[in-house]
Amino acid sequence: MRPTQTPKTYRVKSFGCQMNVYDGDRMAELLAEQGIAPAPEGEDADLVVLNTCHIREKAAEKVYSDIGRLRREDGSSPLIAVAGCVAQAEGEEIMARAPSVKMVVGPQAYHRLPEMIRDASEGKRVTDTDMPAETKFDALPRRRRSGPTAFLTVQEGCDKFCTYCVVPYTRGAEVSRPHADLIDEAKRLVESGAREITLLGQNVNAWTGEDAKGRAIGLDGLIRELAGIPDLARIRYTTSHPNDMTEGLIAAHGEIGKLMPFLHLPVQAGNDRVLKAMNRSHTVDSYLRILKRVRAARPDIALSGDFIVGFPGESDAEFEDTLGLVDAVGYAQCFSFKYSPRPGTPAATMDDQIPAAVMDERLQRLQAALNRDQLAFNKASLGRTCDVLVERKGKHPGQWLGKSPWLQSVHFTGEAQVGDLVRVELTEAGPNSIAARLLETAPA
Ligand code: 5AD
Ligand code: SF4
Repeated sequence: MRPTQTPKTYRVKSFGCQMNVYDGDRMAELLAEQGIAPAPEGEDADLVVLNTCHIREKAAEKVYSDIGRLRREDGSSPLIAVAGCVAQAEGEEIMARAPSVKMVVGPQAYHRLPEMIRDASEGKRVTDTDMPAETKFDALPRRRRSGPTAFLTVQEGCDKFCTYCVVPYTRGAEVSRPHADLIDEAKRLVESGAREITLLGQNVNAWTGEDAKGRAIGLDGLIRELAGIPDLARIRYTTSHPNDMTEGLIAAHGEIGKLMPFLHLPVQAGNDRVLKAMNRSHTVDSYLRILKRVRAARPDIALSGDFIVGFPGESDAEFEDTLGLVDAVGYAQCFSFKYSPRPGTPAATMDDQIPAAVMDERLQRLQAALNRDQLAFNKASLGRTCDVLVERKGKHPGQWLGKSPWLQSVHFTGEAQVGDLVRVELTEAGPNSIAARLLETAPA
């Protein structure tokens, strides 16, 4: 395609967190509304959006290598837009270093893509990393298509400023989307096929709003209302901060049947000095007390978390405290990462950065403990009868894949369809998935 032509086909490649996946889907819907079609599998697209993540690792280098790979044999490139958090953080450098990039658009500005594409099609190079007062959500097209599971961003941004984290800089301050918009979007997702909705936010449990009667509500109030949508079977939310775990939200886990028994509550480290240096504003003890209350409200709850090993200054003994916390909690599943200095964050310039080899060793030990606990949790589920939401076909004939209420990947063989909620008995546990026996298909 020559730069003076408007694109006819697009491809959006999203990296990173679920919110980026959500943003990528919304961009795709926006492009489709402009009459641009998704590029068929295996074919070049006229327009490629690289929806990037900046949370860890050498994210920017990855973007440059992706851009290089988009060059075609004849030396031409598609119209390339770099979106997401790397665009927000390093937009200027990208424009300077990669001439084939025609658009740089931040996570709060992508509703302006159609104008940007018009400008870029005329040969201009355009950057928009504003965080405008008008919200992108008002400008985006309404939801029309959904698989059985859908994401719904309810809250964005972060005011917590953990010292390692780039999110407050790339996504901006904490903003909650209005209640009425969320109810509307959720209903549309359900009408278009969603049976499970995962509410997303960098600090999703900090969501606040007003209900239709003008009463102040928190995330638990929103979940309660969403639970009233008849064809919506399951509600999840992620990711939460311990300090925003309100009494009401904890109680909701025991009261709302559609709220799945799963809580992702990152702690990051198991030592109070490290937590303080991370500016986490909770302690190991206050975190454990929250989990105790959640377990009292919902005894079968599956717990999940995030960990960082090798934060600047973390001693061997402090790392051992993290292993101690893991032992104390017994997580169902977790994410764990080596600390990665992010440009512009306070921790990046702290003394005592930890050598890579030490981080490697710590991560291996932590992951061994987490894998042990994940398998133990899966084994403890055997014999349970539960519903599985069928998400897709498996590799073998007649096999289906879905999730248990505790977010375990479950596979079974039998009569089913994508979107069904089926009753199964969990029969065999591996570290990453569970085999099940189909009992009966629950009425739709
Ligand atoms: N280095 C390593 N891990 C990080 N995370 C956030 N910032 C960093 C960083 N600089 C992890 C945290 C967070 C998850 C989304 O990513 O564990 O909870
Ligand atoms: Fe990052 Fe989460 Fe901390 Fe916000 S609360 S700064 S997103 S780790």
